[in-house]
Amino acid sequence: MSTVVRAPATIANVGPGFDVFGLAVDGFHDVVKAREADGVRIVTEDSIPTDPERNTAGRVALMMVEEFDLPGVTLEIGKGVPVGGLGSSAASAVAAAVAIDREFGLGLEESELLRFAAEGERAAAGEPHYDNVAPCLLGGFVIWRSEREYRRLEVPGDLGFVTVTPIGVRVTTEEARKVLRERPPSLDDVVNNLSAVALMVAAIAEGDAETFARLIGQDRISEPVRRRFVPRYGELREAAYGAGALGFAISGAGPTVFAVCWREDAEDVKTALEDALSGKCVSAIHGVSEGVEVA
Ligand code: HSE
Repeated sequence: MSTVVRAPATIANVGPGFDVFGLAVDGFHDVVKAREADGVRIVTEDSIPTDPERNTAGRVALMMVEEFDLPGVTLEIGKGVPVGGLGSSAASAVAAAVAIDREFGLGLEESELLRFAAEGERAAAGEPHYDNVAPCLLGGFVIWRSEREYRRLEVPGDLGFVTVTPIGVRVTTEEARKVLRERPPSLDDVVNNLSAVALMVAAIAEGDAETFARLIGQDRISEPVRRRFVPRYGELREAAYGAGALGFAISGAGPTVFAVCWREDAEDVKTALEDALSGKCVSAIHGVSEGVEVA
């Protein structure tokens, strides 16, 4: 017997919601197949570590095997989420936690799955990022505060999310967080982001997709510092708005960027962003994902 699980890409921060907002998007998935075995083993054709201690999904498996006294598990991993700002490590961690839970009939609560996945993500990112892990598990738009205080909300309207990952640019989350400490946000920046996130949540409650989307482009905590990691950031932003985007921001810690637009404008926005990077990128148009699924 085996269990196959698909876990989606996620956009952390969603503009001004630094470490608080996360959105699950369809189109990119990691696939993890779990099968009972002796000890923990990772099988993959992708260029990721196969030592379970150094692999996000492997770390989840080691913890779960220990905690539930399981014989062991072989995880076959297929990476579909591009590395660099789309919650790639969270997708593997969530998929592993859910696959092991189902394969061994553990019946874990949502909070337990979140805890294992977040700890597994520590292997790759140095610290857990719930703004990737939580939307990956729950789907939709997630507001994260703590293990006891979080909400999943539905994104209003017919919006498309266009992601663009520049090829050959690597930024670790650790590095992208370190630079933020070099230039802490001013009081004005904090007030700007607070008012933007508050209005984004109000816009969701009112079904006002346009306000929600426009405020995504109003981050003043992460963008001013991290834009240096994204090649041609200014041109990308201009190209996105020129082609009809409503909002534009860095996805998670970058270097992936994303634009949000009406679904009917998504092809134009995608083409404009690809042209701004002379095609040297991985790009896609996404809708909102319902989160992890057992295949
Ligand atoms: N919120 C985190 C950051 C997400 O922006 O550093 C990392 O994926």
